[in-house]
Amino acid sequence: MKQFKRWFGGRSEGDEALAGIDMDNIPDHVAVIMDGNGRWAQKRGLPRVAGHHSGMKNVKKITMAANTLGIRVLTLYAFSTENWKRPKEEVDYLMKLPMEFFPKEIDELVANNVQIRMTGWREGLPDYTLKAVEDAIERTRHNDGLILNFALNYGSRKEMIAGIRSIAERVKRNELELEDIDESLFAKTLLTDPLPDPDLLIRTSGELRISNFMLWQLAYSELWFTDLYWPDFTEKEFYEAIIEYQRRARRYGGL
Ligand code: FPP
Repeated sequence: MKQFKRWFGGRSEGDEALAGIDMDNIPDHVAVIMDGNGRWAQKRGLPRVAGHHSGMKNVKKITMAANTLGIRVLTLYAFSTENWKRPKEEVDYLMKLPMEFFPKEIDELVANNVQIRMTGWREGLPDYTLKAVEDAIERTRHNDGLILNFALNYGSRKEMIAGIRSIAERVKRNELELEDIDESLFAKTLLTDPLPDPDLLIRTSGELRISNFMLWQLAYSELWFTDLYWPDFTEKEFYEAIIEYQRRARRYGGL
């Protein structure tokens, strides 16, 4: 009951911070590196996967917070191209999370007008993972509210190399002149197209790195870090990050 009320906008831990937000200056796109699940679990003497499970539950809470603010896109870094190097049991567990998350949450996501998207390579994902994600995308296809975008099997360098190759091929086939290559053409080759670049990047767990995440798209994003592990990150800190974002002067290299 408590969860139900919170999902539909009942009182939550973040209400005080929420009151401090300027609703006329909401970022269009917030991206989150959800880090610290493993350490959260280890601290409690639990297996690492228990941290991922708790992290999955937090996805719902932060999605609700983003929805409350009218944010257009919330991208969550759920699995990187480098995460395949982890032990098989952990990778298998992570790959099964969409099969648990979406069937459980899809009705409320639909009721809240959320659109599910995915940024990443579909090839390489197990069929069951892809099906769970594709079904959720299909179920929310007619919604026009918050885009909840999962970066899954995503890596920015690979994305950019693929983009460079596709442009080089078009030049080779004489479909493009070298002079036609500009920022907007390159951005169209990226997996995030046509989403706007993130205005704000949040990373949890105290690590101060970008970790091969949206290297091109983050060029002018504001960065916000917290020591909290992802499962401990609540709507309160999410709203605090937005307030801090609103205090920053974005100059894009100008004055
Ligand atoms: C990084 O923490 C987190 C991940 C690699 C997985 C994030 C995934 C979720 C939170 C669930 C996503 C939900 C769906 C529905 C796809 P870490 O394990 O690297 O933590 P550590 O640095 O403490 O080891």
